[in-house]
Amino acid sequence: MTSTSNSTRSSSPLSNGLPTTLSRNEALSLATVTAACVAVLVNVFREPEPSPLIASLALSGLAFVAAFALIRWLGPTFLRAGIKGADLSKRVRRELPECMGGVCAVVYLLAVIVFIPFPFYKDIVAATSGGGNKDVVLPVEHVQRGRFLHRFPHSKLASYLSAIISLQSIALLGIGDDLFDIRWRHKFFIPAFAAIPLLVVYFVDFGVTSVVIPIQLQPYLGELLDLGALYYVYMAAVAIFSPNSINILAGINGIEVAQSIVIALLLSLNDCLYLLTPYPHPATDSHLFSLYFLLPFLGVSLALLYHNWYPARVFVGDTYCYFAGMVFVVVSILGHFSKTLVLLLVPQIFNFLYSTPQLFGLVPCPRHRLPRFNARTNLLEPSVTQWTPDHQPKAPIAWVLRLLGRLRLLRVTLDDEDRFVETSNFTLLNLWLVWRGPLREDRLALEITVLQAALGLFGLFVRHRLALLVFKADNWSLGFNV
Ligand code: UD1
Ligand code: MG
Repeated sequence: MTSTSNSTRSSSPLSNGLPTTLSRNEALSLATVTAACVAVLVNVFREPEPSPLIASLALSGLAFVAAFALIRWLGPTFLRAGIKGADLSKRVRRELPECMGGVCAVVYLLAVIVFIPFPFYKDIVAATSGGGNKDVVLPVEHVQRGRFLHRFPHSKLASYLSAIISLQSIALLGIGDDLFDIRWRHKFFIPAFAAIPLLVVYFVDFGVTSVVIPIQLQPYLGELLDLGALYYVYMAAVAIFSPNSINILAGINGIEVAQSIVIALLLSLNDCLYLLTPYPHPATDSHLFSLYFLLPFLGVSLALLYHNWYPARVFVGDTYCYFAGMVFVVVSILGHFSKTLVLLLVPQIFNFLYSTPQLFGLVPCPRHRLPRFNARTNLLEPSVTQWTPDHQPKAPIAWVLRLLGRLRLLRVTLDDEDRFVETSNFTLLNLWLVWRGPLREDRLALEITVLQAALGLFGLFVRHRLALLVFKADNWSLGFNV
């Protein structure tokens, strides 16, 4: 770790005046976190029954440190390589390193790979030495013929490895997109390919494709409805939706990372509920599995948020958005709680549905729909699509635009002859500005993050409490995992 006493002010010409080394305080804090995490890891090894969850926490702390330092150090390298973007909502549009989510993804993948032996430690010992005694020496001929590891949970290892393959695939796609700006329609379906390893493992390992029918509909449809192959289509749709939906709720400093951290925290909270139930509970293992993937994600994301929050020093890139979305898909498909994930993505679902007129070309969609920066007031205002007298929306679309304008779901500006002059762009961020008036960039990011957290907490409440009005049981309190 490099440190200089005045390094917060140090910069190279390529770094655009941004710090590229760690300040003394930062270096000391990171060194302390590193020492604490290493001490915890060493202690975990000494325990007779090592706890994988504690090891995961310690590795997540190390992932935070590594991501923090690398983001700082690699900024100038990224700028020199031309991987950069202009910070559009500032008086001075500085060029910032783009694709820092790629750095986080690499650190994250290394952390989850290093973690592999921890959850399987007990199984490895039990399977290789018999009776769980690691001191028992294996007979030579046994080793030569290959081990007969019938007691090793290969299915769990397969789940873990399939998750890593999916995450690596999506990181590749994201980095490709950040480097070459792949067209929207080309990259849209790629998460579905990245999800294939997950779906195969789901098919082999779990294979449940039925959904529980609400009590009120059970007289007509029965207790369970088997969706068969449709269930896989649904999971592939979640895999496509989650990464893309985070990428389009974007464009102001900090919002991509902040929303992802809130979702990861809420998923972790949901996982922790299952750790409190008496073991063995059928869902405990899948929620532990989910925590092993979420904790290091939180580690690297917090380091990224520190650098991406207003005023941003780096951009996260599409890599981060896709990667974050895929982490949620991985844990929720392999943990068998994809419907809970959908509940936590309500702002993203709204933003996507609201965006459809522009995404499907009914209303022109500019390259950037992020809010418009007013340099005079230093505040953000809704960005707009311009209409000319010669280029007006078709009659049914004009009718919908006027209706949305009347319902205050869109800002519509008309000229004296009732022709469209401007309509605000169809994003949640712009709509929030229509409702709340001009806001500073960090204030807007904070309000949307709080909204995400509030809706998510309500979603979890619905999942565990209100759902009992329409379903017979919640798997948290009983033991069904459908
Ligand atoms: C998505 C959105 C686009 C939005 C963009 C912003 C859709 C269909 N696409 O496109 O409307 O403008 O994200 O990320 O909804 N930037 C900032 N400040 C920030 C974050 C980004 O100025 O806080 C700018 C920078 O110039 C950066 C660029 O946005 O280089 C990144 O855009 P990119 O992620 O490539 O856009 P898309 O994901 O394609
Ligand atoms: Mg993007």
